[in-house]
Amino acid sequence: MIECKNGLFHLRNLSLSCLLRVNRYGLLEQVHFGAPVRSEDVEALAGQPGLGWGSSLLLNDKDPGSSPDAMALAWSGSGRGDFRESPLEMDGQSTDFCYVNHNVLDTPPLMECGLPQTHGKGETLEILMEQPGARLRLYFTLYETAMTRFAVLENTGEQPIALHKLMSFSMDIYGSYTMTTFNGGWAAEMQRCDTVVGASRVVNESATGASSNQHNAGFLLSEMDATEDAGRVYGFNLIYSGNHYASARQSQQGFIRVMQGINPAHFCQTLQPGEKFETPEAVLCYSGAGWGGLSARMHKFVLNHVVPEYWSRRERPVLYNSWEGCMFDFNESRLVDLARRAKNLGCELFVLDDGWFGKRNDDLAGLGDYNVNLKKLPHGLHGLAQKVNKLGLEFGLWLEPESVNEDSDLYRAHPDWALTDRFPTIYGRHQLLLDLTKPEVRDYIVENVSKVLDSANITYVKWDMNRHSVAVGKKAHEHVLGLYDVLRRIFGPRPQILLESCSSGGNRFDLGMLCFGPQVWCSDNTDPISRLDIQGNLSYLYPQSTFGAHVSASPHAQTLRATPLSTRGNVSFFGCLGYELDLKHLAAIEVQEIKHQIELYKTYRRLFQFGTFRRMKNGWQVSLDGVTAAGVFHKLVSAAPGYEQLRLKGLDADKIYHLRTRAQKIRIGQFAHLLKHVAPVNLNPNGAVINTADKHYGLEDGVEGYRVSGAALLSGILLQPLFRGTGYDTNQRTQGDYGSNLYIVEEV
Ligand code: GLA
Repeated sequence: MIECKNGLFHLRNLSLSCLLRVNRYGLLEQVHFGAPVRSEDVEALAGQPGLGWGSSLLLNDKDPGSSPDAMALAWSGSGRGDFRESPLEMDGQSTDFCYVNHNVLDTPPLMECGLPQTHGKGETLEILMEQPGARLRLYFTLYETAMTRFAVLENTGEQPIALHKLMSFSMDIYGSYTMTTFNGGWAAEMQRCDTVVGASRVVNESATGASSNQHNAGFLLSEMDATEDAGRVYGFNLIYSGNHYASARQSQQGFIRVMQGINPAHFCQTLQPGEKFETPEAVLCYSGAGWGGLSARMHKFVLNHVVPEYWSRRERPVLYNSWEGCMFDFNESRLVDLARRAKNLGCELFVLDDGWFGKRNDDLAGLGDYNVNLKKLPHGLHGLAQKVNKLGLEFGLWLEPESVNEDSDLYRAHPDWALTDRFPTIYGRHQLLLDLTKPEVRDYIVENVSKVLDSANITYVKWDMNRHSVAVGKKAHEHVLGLYDVLRRIFGPRPQILLESCSSGGNRFDLGMLCFGPQVWCSDNTDPISRLDIQGNLSYLYPQSTFGAHVSASPHAQTLRATPLSTRGNVSFFGCLGYELDLKHLAAIEVQEIKHQIELYKTYRRLFQFGTFRRMKNGWQVSLDGVTAAGVFHKLVSAAPGYEQLRLKGLDADKIYHLRTRAQKIRIGQFAHLLKHVAPVNLNPNGAVINTADKHYGLEDGVEGYRVSGAALLSGILLQPLFRGTGYDTNQRTQGDYGSNLYIVEEV
């Protein structure tokens, strides 16, 4: 509901209130953003500046409370007494936009520049502000669990405007907060970092041309005492895939000014008279129920209003991807053999990754070309897809259309299509980006990718992009708009293709890409212990159905860590499950385990992909329609560990549940030298007998199964103890480092 009365604007629903007021100086005050309140509370909620603060500039010499620096604002000017950071910089001059009028719209207006936007019904407040020669429209859209904001600046004067910075939103909220950002790099995305917001500005920004693996665009502001289940938390994100910027700083009066938008670094856009500039839509979310409460609201918002409607709650197939198993080394018969094995395990979709086109036998050549490598695939994509389909699998394909290798027919024909600057070329993974600001480049990509997609029965695309950009400022933004144009033209007419975006893993995990495809490859790092951080931290802002989560080989290619196959499965269950390893060399016992994993995942697929996700102290849980799946994960174990508790959330205390452990096998090899304690003969731990047994037979691990009340599960039950070195039996969880269990809890 949006209420507008006497200069007061109140956007309110069951999850939040945003209370705005035009003050007597025409400035837009942010009286409140947070828990739902009454409009009548405005005077109590707003600060009363009284005699003001010393050393202030006043808008009215007779009103000591007229210092903009002390006001809580939803937009602020610069150079006119508000010395905090301004969301707008133009012409190197001060700005002073004042309220003119407002409108209430059924939905936010469509942007003309082609930026992706939220969908669905969202009542929208449009506030028009002006200063001589320029008009600013601020949009506030109310969704069930979040609000979005964006801004449009229009040149209404006679002279061009040099626009250096225009944030999607700015607001001041009272309190002391910690800013949580998610930082990292390749294979190490989403490392949580907490910084107390004080009088110095805290910044979260990317400058790589993409939203980047260095700093995800999403961030949190949490009150100091916030926990997983209690306390005030704000969440912010940007529907944008390029250079982003967000900052937070506390003022003398105790307000945190927070803003987010396109990174202003190097940014300069000239607006000719009559021209407009539209910012990306930003997402603002609040919960008084801790990080868990905030995540639940963000997840709902992303599913309902960001990911394409066709896919928002459509179940995803269990896939097999050829990359980690084959890299560039394959031919049709190897792929068909893998597809047969994948089908036998229970996979539903076979994805051919990099290496199928041009001279792409390594990462030195071929990007930009689309001709199928007939040496590897003599019957083309069509022939391969037919064979894969015949086995009962869908067929999916990897593409990297934004890039070009110098060693490619495309580059030889159009060297000027590469995105360069005026300095010597610099390379990333031996490749360049194509200049998507050029219409002919976009046409080339749209035409060729469309042809490929229509050449075979392709139901899934992994859209990759593997380098950082050299474009800065305006060019960087226009490049991102070019990407959106290409994606819209290719996938708009093909909504049923499942699009998973990827950028060296999670280098572009953002809401902009999620507007075009419902899932993103989280990271090239598939080590399950690393994934506990990567997927766990993504879950603050993104629902698990947006995670591409694959089981790969052990020891892991990036960390060299050896982990049990059960843990690799248990972690990947909390996302869109896939397998990415050479299936030819699986031991019989691994084949059995994977079959079991896929069967279980399919049984509970809707729960895993769309259930309510919650973080526990020792793992994750998902709940849907009376069923909960809970993963309990261990990193390094200690000797003689004590009991461990399983404490679930969100159950009905009065109901009775049945809890059971997913049965897992323990590899005999892990115990080889201990077997002498129990075996009648002294077996060589490295000998053929143990080696053979290890590949075929596993020991039963402890399994629990009983009826228990919701009250007990909410309070916390004690799980079977972990292995303590006191012998083997099935009343314990015989796990070492990186062990885990999955529990299924069903309402009786
Ligand atoms: C990137 C992706 C990988 C894989 C390779 C192929 O690194 O993140 O998953 O597709 O490219 O070259």
